[in-house]
Amino acid sequence: MSNVDLSVKVGTLTFRNPVLLASGTVGYGSEMSELIDLNKIGGIVTKSLSLKPRKGNPPQRIVETPSGMLNAIGLTNVGVEVFLKEKIPFLKKFDVPLICNIAASSVEEYVECTKILTEEETIKAFEINVSCPNVKEGGLQFGNDVSAVGKITEKVKAVTDKPVIIKLSPNVSYISEFAKVVKKEGGDAVSAINTLVGTSFDIFTRKPKIKNITGGLSGPAIKPVALAKVLEISMSVGIPIIGIGGIMNWKDVVEFMIAGASAIQLGTVNFIDPAAAEKIISSLEQYCIKNKIEKLSSLTASYNL
Ligand SMILES: Cc1cc2nc3c(=O)[nH]c(=O)nc-3n(C[C@H](O)[C@H](O)[C@H](O)COP(=O)(O)O)c2cc1C
Repeated sequence: MSNVDLSVKVGTLTFRNPVLLASGTVGYGSEMSELIDLNKIGGIVTKSLSLKPRKGNPPQRIVETPSGMLNAIGLTNVGVEVFLKEKIPFLKKFDVPLICNIAASSVEEYVECTKILTEEETIKAFEINVSCPNVKEGGLQFGNDVSAVGKITEKVKAVTDKPVIIKLSPNVSYISEFAKVVKKEGGDAVSAINTLVGTSFDIFTRKPKIKNITGGLSGPAIKPVALAKVLEISMSVGIPIIGIGGIMNWKDVVEFMIAGASAIQLGTVNFIDPAAAEKIISSLEQYCIKNKIEKLSSLTASYNL
C-alpha cells in the first residue's frame, strides 16, 4: 500500500479513483463483475434508461473502423421499472458508486424517469444523456439546442437532490456554450464527450455498413477531439468535468486530467480489454509514486499553455 491519494471529487461526489465505466459499454454491470473487481472501480455509469423499454435499432448496429468503432445501438434498454426490479438488487451487492444514465424523447420523460429513480438509494447521481446521435427523437435534437439543454437541466434538478451530470455532445460548434447553460441552471457537472457522428460504406454493395446509415464514432480516433472539448470547457466554465473519449490506458487518463477532467470514463476499451479499468488504476498509482504526486486530483486542469 502506498500513501498516494487516488480519490477525486466531482462536485459533491467523491470517487475512490477517477476511473468510471462509461454508459452503454458495460450494460448494468453484471457481465463486468465476472471479469473485474467492481469494488475497485471509481464508479459505474449504467446503460441509458428510458421510461419504457426500448428495442433499439435493427442490425447491423456496430462496425469496426481503423481506430475505433461506429455504433448505432439506438438506446436499447430494459426501462426504468425492470431496472429497479431486476438490475438494482445485483448492483446493490457492490461497494461502487452507481450513476444512472437517463435518455428520453421529451423533457417530461427525463423528469419522470428521474423522479422514479431518485427514490432508489443505491443511485448516487444521474447522468443525463442529451447527446445520443443514434435516435430520431431525444438525441441530438436536444444535444444541439442550448435552450433545450438548459431546460432539461433545470427541470431534472427540480425533482432530485442527487447530483445531476449532463452528458454533452461533441457534434456542436462550441461545447462550452452548453456547459455554461448547464452551470447556470444548477447542473452539478458535465461529462464530455458522447460519440461523434460518422458513417462507413461497403464499396461493393455501396450500402452503408450500418443499417441506421450513421452511427457514433468512439475509441482512440476521437481522443484528440474529446481532449480539445474538455479543455475548451475547462478554460471558460467553472464546472466539474468528467472526460470521456478514446481513453485506452493510464497515460490517456493523465492527459484528460491535465486538460481539465476531474474524473474520466472508459468506453470502447472495455470491449477490447475488460480488465483495462483495473490495470489503469494500478498504473495510475505507480505513476504517482514515481513522480512524487501525493494527490492524483492535483492534476486536474494543471495545463501549462
Ligand atoms: C456500443 C456503445 C454503446 C453506447 N451506449 C451509450 C448509451 O446508452 N448512453 C450514453 O450516454 N452513451 C453511450 N455510449 C457512449 C459512451 O458512453 C462514450 O461516451 C463514447 O463511447 C466515447 O468514449 P470511448 O471512446 O471511450 O468509447 C455508447 C458507446 C458505445 C461504443
